[in-house]
Amino acid sequence: MKKKLFITRKFPAHIVEPLEEFYDIEQWPEEELVIPREKLLEAVAHCEVLWVTLEDLVDDELLSHAPNLKLVTNLAVGFNNIDIPALRKYGVMATNTPGVLTNSTADLVFGLLLATARRIPESERYLRAGKWKSWYPMQLVGKDVSHTTIGIIGMGRIGQAVARRAIGFDMKVLYHNRRRRHEAEEMYGFKYASLEELLQQSDFVVIMTPYNKDTVGLIGEQELALMRDDAVLINASRGGIIDEVALYETLNKGKLWAVGLDVFEYEPIAMDHPLLTLPNVVALPHIGSASIKARTDMLMLNYNALAAYGQGKAISNRID
Ligand code: GLV
Ligand code: GLV
Repeated sequence: MKKKLFITRKFPAHIVEPLEEFYDIEQWPEEELVIPREKLLEAVAHCEVLWVTLEDLVDDELLSHAPNLKLVTNLAVGFNNIDIPALRKYGVMATNTPGVLTNSTADLVFGLLLATARRIPESERYLRAGKWKSWYPMQLVGKDVSHTTIGIIGMGRIGQAVARRAIGFDMKVLYHNRRRRHEAEEMYGFKYASLEELLQQSDFVVIMTPYNKDTVGLIGEQELALMRDDAVLINASRGGIIDEVALYETLNKGKLWAVGLDVFEYEPIAMDHPLLTLPNVVALPHIGSASIKARTDMLMLNYNALAAYGQGKAISNRID
């Protein structure tokens, strides 16, 4: 008898179908809509393997509804949606998708740096609104990215990929991380800074740290107050790392040049969210890893873990 696999979203058929060799597959039929919680709790009652997106919460409650569950594959590198101690308690394995989205996400971070500094979305709105009457010297002037200081909070794979790109823009690179990155410091001249120093000295503050109990609300009122008045803040990790109320209040006082956000505390962000009323907020719908190659590679890393489990082989990229 084949093992039962439940997939919480409609994923591309050419990736899912080959798994029928090993699994009896059930799949939530919607590509765009999240499976309602009660349907998910029903679905996991019978499955041995569960394939989830970053929007599906795998916590004690879910695991207590899933007596046969052995493996969860998470279509993301970030796994704040998965309660690791609870997994251990229930003896369930899990995998994520590290490495394959590093460059795509770092590229998007640079897109946000340029978009915020040079007011690219605002300029495009200006053109489409028919406001372009002439060329004049101080029209839509922005800030340079090159020859400034970038401060990266969270120097994992993606943080380091952002830092390497910054070298090409002749930026001074500061970073803050739990562990020093001595090799990267020596090889590229990146400088370690305390969180306080980094916030005070950077023109661009980029958040790349994972989201967990230590980083919830890491950037709040006090941290924002330390930043330079014309600094730019970028977040492409997880929304809850920034206190959005404090961020709105800071921007509303005229502090900070701009903010670039690919992630929000609650996703999708509500269309009446105060941050969306500000012209210097560039807001994106969590597209950090959204290149065809990165998303395909992410699906394939999960596929490989599922195929390995289906054949009784060892599984890579475990996070449990
Ligand atoms: C996306 O946010 C991911 O963690 O892969
Ligand atoms: C993710 O891959 C990270 O370590 O930054």
